This record gives sequence, C-alpha cells and structure tokens, in this order.
Amino acid sequence: MKDLNCLHHITLCTGDAQEDYDFHTQTLGLRSIKKTLLYDGKVPIYHFYYSNASGEPSAIVTSFPMRHTGLKGRRGGNQIKTLMLSIPPGSAGYWLERLRGRGIDASACEKLGERRVAFTHPCGIPYELVEVEGDTRRGWDQAGVPLEAAIHGMHGIEVSVRDRDVMDDFVLEAWSCDRGADEGATVRFEMGRGGTGAIIDVVAEPDRHQGTWTFAEGVVHHCAFDIASLDLQKDYRAFVEGMGYTDISEVKDRGYFDSIYVRTPGGALFEAAVSKPQGWAVDEDPAHLGEEIKISPQFEQDRAQILDVIGRIDY
Ligand SMILES: [Fe+2]
Repeated sequence: MKDLNCLHHITLCTGDAQEDYDFHTQTLGLRSIKKTLLYDGKVPIYHFYYSNASGEPSAIVTSFPMRHTGLKGRRGGNQIKTLMLSIPPGSAGYWLERLRGRGIDASACEKLGERRVAFTHPCGIPYELVEVEGDTRRGWDQAGVPLEAAIHGMHGIEVSVRDRDVMDDFVLEAWSCDRGADEGATVRFEMGRGGTGAIIDVVAEPDRHQGTWTFAEGVVHHCAFDIASLDLQKDYRAFVEGMGYTDISEVKDRGYFDSIYVRTPGGALFEAAVSKPQGWAVDEDPAHLGEEIKISPQFEQDRAQILDVIGRIDY
C-alpha cells in the first residue's frame, strides 16, 4: 500500500521550555501555531507546535520541553537522528551568519547533492537547513527572518540504524517509500509526492550505542506521516499489522489529528496521522493561532497548578 503522502510532523524531547520556544520562534523564525500539553502520562509536559505560515502537514515541528522532569535521554542508534528543514536556494549564507551571530556553532556542508547548514538545538538534537529549489510551502516572515530565507517546512528526517536491512525493508514494504539516491552509509527513501517534505534518509551506524526511546531530554521522540482519511488509516493499520509489525497502536485522538504509532524494526517510532478537518482552528481563531496555552477540557480546572509544575513562559 502506498497511502502515506509526506511527513506530517516531528516531535522532539527538548530541555527548558523558554529556551525551546525562543530557539524555534526567534532564532529559526518559525510560527507558533499551538501551545498545549502532552496527552500521555501523569506528569504535565508542554507540547509546543511550530510551523511555516500555513501549518500544513510536512511543515510542523513539535516539542515536549522535559527539563522540569529531570529525565535525560541518550542520543544513539536505532533512533531518529537529524531534523532537516527546507530553506530557499541561496539562503545558506544568511543562515550561517544569523546562527553564528546568536552564538550557535553552525557549519556549511554538502550531502546527497544538497547544500546544508548544520547545527544543533540547545538540547543537542542535530538540525540541518537544506537549500531546496522550487519549494512552494509558504515561509513565515513575521518573526524576523525575511521571506527570501524563511523556512518552508520539513525537508525530511535522518534515521540512524545499527542494522540497515530490516529498516530498509520496513520503509519500502510497509511505509510507502521508494528508494532514491545514496551516499556513503546513507540511503534516501521518498514517499507519496516525493521530494522535499517526503524524505526519510536511513544511515547505517552499526557501532553506535542504542539511543533512548522514552520521553527524555535531548532526543527525537517520533516522526509522524500524513495519511488522508480515517478509513485509509484503518486499512493501513491492518496492512502493517498483517505484515507482522504488531507493535502498532490503536487510534489515538490527539486533538488536532488522529494517530496510530508503530515501533519500526530500526527502532525509531513512526506515526501515521489524519489531520482533523478544522485543523489548528479546532480550538482557536485561525488568525491568532498559538497565542494562548490550550489545556484539554478535562484538565482545565487544574490550569494554575499545571502551569506551576511546567513553568510559565514569556511569549
Ligand atoms: Fe506525533
């Protein structure tokens, strides 16, 4: 089955909430489109959503700031390693200067024929800005980054695996992908429309230690992929489970989309998400997305107590 269209969002476990918010909205100039809470577990944790101007699937970066929990993760193999974001052609120089001007150790590099700027989130997760021709997703120019350099959305993810064959089989047979170019230990896979926003790069790192899978500071938790409808998602879930990938969840209502999760044989956690028809406007005026902290109705009466635990941020 080839039902996945592109990436939907990526979710990172970061450190301090204010630091994460400022890094994404000020340093990278992304738009805050939702501030809410993680729906799982007993300990309240923020869930921040950042995007380009439109917030469409493939253009969403989300984070769980973990610092108040004291849980530290270990980056390693069998885990999503790098978040790649798409920038306009010719803007790498702007980004090198901007990032270095803010004290971030950024460097230029080239891989798979793409010009890139590599750096890390303050919590240590690797990021790359990748120059992409003809990306029509709309950048956000209201946060200090001009449109000529604004981030279009996600370009793709890099997944580190200790044994590449089982992961390559999974992305080809179960996860809608076709094989693309390769370079060194990295093989590119693309799904649906292909190209930017639809890329999974699998890099074999057999000697790397196992990375953390739990919610813990400094690691990527999962990546979600876009699927068009709940009916397609139901069929897709049965298809993947029927292949023997039985570590797959039931549908979970995530407020703005409905999701299933599967633990891939390469270790990384993947999600297939169906956006709700109202999208981000389900609980906010579309012109004022992300301006206040949305707490799901069952916890609303505990708002003050929750904010005491997770910390109030300036925005
Ligand atoms: Fe997710």
